Amino acid sequence: MNMLKPKHVLTGHGAEVAPLAPNKSTEPTTKIVEAPLAYPRSAEVFRHNRRFIPGGVASVNRAVQPEIVFTKGQGAYIWDLDGNRYIDYHAAFAPHVLGHNDPYVTDAVFSVLKKESSLYGSGTTELEGQLAEVICRHVPAAESVQFLNSGSEATCQAIRLARAITQRDHIIVMQAGYNGWHNDVACNLMTPLDVIGPRLSPGEYPYIPISAGIPLEHQKLVHAVNFNDLQSVEYVCQKYPIAALITEPILQNVGIIKPKAGYLQGLRKLADRYSFVLIFDEVKTGFRHGVGGYARIAGVMPDLVVFGKAVANGYPIAVLGRKKDMMDWFVHPDSSKRVLLAGTYNAHPVPTAAAIATIDRLLMNGGEVYQKLEQLATSMQKGLEKILAALNLKAVIARQGSAFCIYFMDHCPMDWHDLAGHHDFMRDQKLRLALIGGGVYFFPMATKQCSISFAHTQEDIDFTLEQIESRLTQMIH
Ligand SMILES: Cc1ncc(COP(=O)(O)O)c(C=O)c1O
Repeated sequence: MNMLKPKHVLTGHGAEVAPLAPNKSTEPTTKIVEAPLAYPRSAEVFRHNRRFIPGGVASVNRAVQPEIVFTKGQGAYIWDLDGNRYIDYHAAFAPHVLGHNDPYVTDAVFSVLKKESSLYGSGTTELEGQLAEVICRHVPAAESVQFLNSGSEATCQAIRLARAITQRDHIIVMQAGYNGWHNDVACNLMTPLDVIGPRLSPGEYPYIPISAGIPLEHQKLVHAVNFNDLQSVEYVCQKYPIAALITEPILQNVGIIKPKAGYLQGLRKLADRYSFVLIFDEVKTGFRHGVGGYARIAGVMPDLVVFGKAVANGYPIAVLGRKKDMMDWFVHPDSSKRVLLAGTYNAHPVPTAAAIATIDRLLMNGGEVYQKLEQLATSMQKGLEKILAALNLKAVIARQGSAFCIYFMDHCPMDWHDLAGHHDFMRDQKLRLALIGGGVYFFPMATKQCSISFAHTQEDIDFTLEQIESRLTQMIH
């Protein structure tokens, strides 16, 4: 695929391993139906789109092999243009916690459309107040919130707010964390070890951009350290005036890298000691692991928190919030201190209604959604561990609630150096491609998190396990 490839990023682009045939059926099925390897109609659309869109796709993160055009999602399943059905574990990079097109959420969206609620651009709306109240009531970290359209917009605003409040410019980011596409955070994702160098602790890594066009002067303000490394955070704090540290509380863009016991608490202490703003980027963890986000599970309060993705089950909205005194800088009486937060589509009624309905559904019946997710995910984990042990494979399952990942290494990684130095990326990639041939969609890029939804069934999990067992067996024999 002729995509612009960021210079120092490991991607799954140009995968060398062709997939086996997909499961050619539009009916729910648990049988493996081998079909000829081809996505002719998808290829046609890609050819067309490339004429008008650079690379043919609206987000380069979606540029992977095989090139498949998906047309429909319902519950746990997605369908492609060539008529193949897949059990979906990609969930469009994780938002679909209830499953695709959940009827409860869809009804809420239809309902606002029918009400002709088009006047969000004229002033405040009842709907945005309702969503804000629901979030502040149920998310302990949130005293006051604002709405944006994407996770990147929200992390961008969080960092700007932190800089305004602290009157400092430098920030700390995590090696292998992803916080969006803007200049402060478009760096140090899956950096090859020969580019980033050996583990440094205490120390910091060079800023490795994942995009061209980021001014050098800006890059100097951003300091990357490894996850789970408090000593390096302190080292950087002693060298530069730090405005903020932004981190996913679990690194979920390279699988599932969990915080070690005491790590998030340690960040909290360092934030207090060095007076920087601790920002938890819960775009992926929030609402997928619980309505209060991972902060609630960990019992650690950030100063600012960002939610996205699962908060509206796939509709485009993000939430920035937490301490009222900090959020009030958006309306600071001193205009020289006021932080600009604006957006034509902020709190658009469609995603706002979707978010209210999603949170409502997540809270319903004593949290039955999370109970079922935990049940299914436990079954997936146990099944996978049994298969991996029977095949005598060096592999572990990392899991938090409904999010999981198979690492082909002998332990769950604690940071990027650990992961990049031990994981068998090729085996991971091969398995993903083979599964697509079996009607199971794991995003075909090594280490990407898999997400189970409320719409998945035990039958889906069993079928997926059968597929994984047979594909892995084929791969190693
Ligand atoms: C943890 C995290 N933060 C921020 C973002 C950016 O969100 P968006 O793609 O909605 O801009 C992502 C997207 O994958 C993410 O995973």
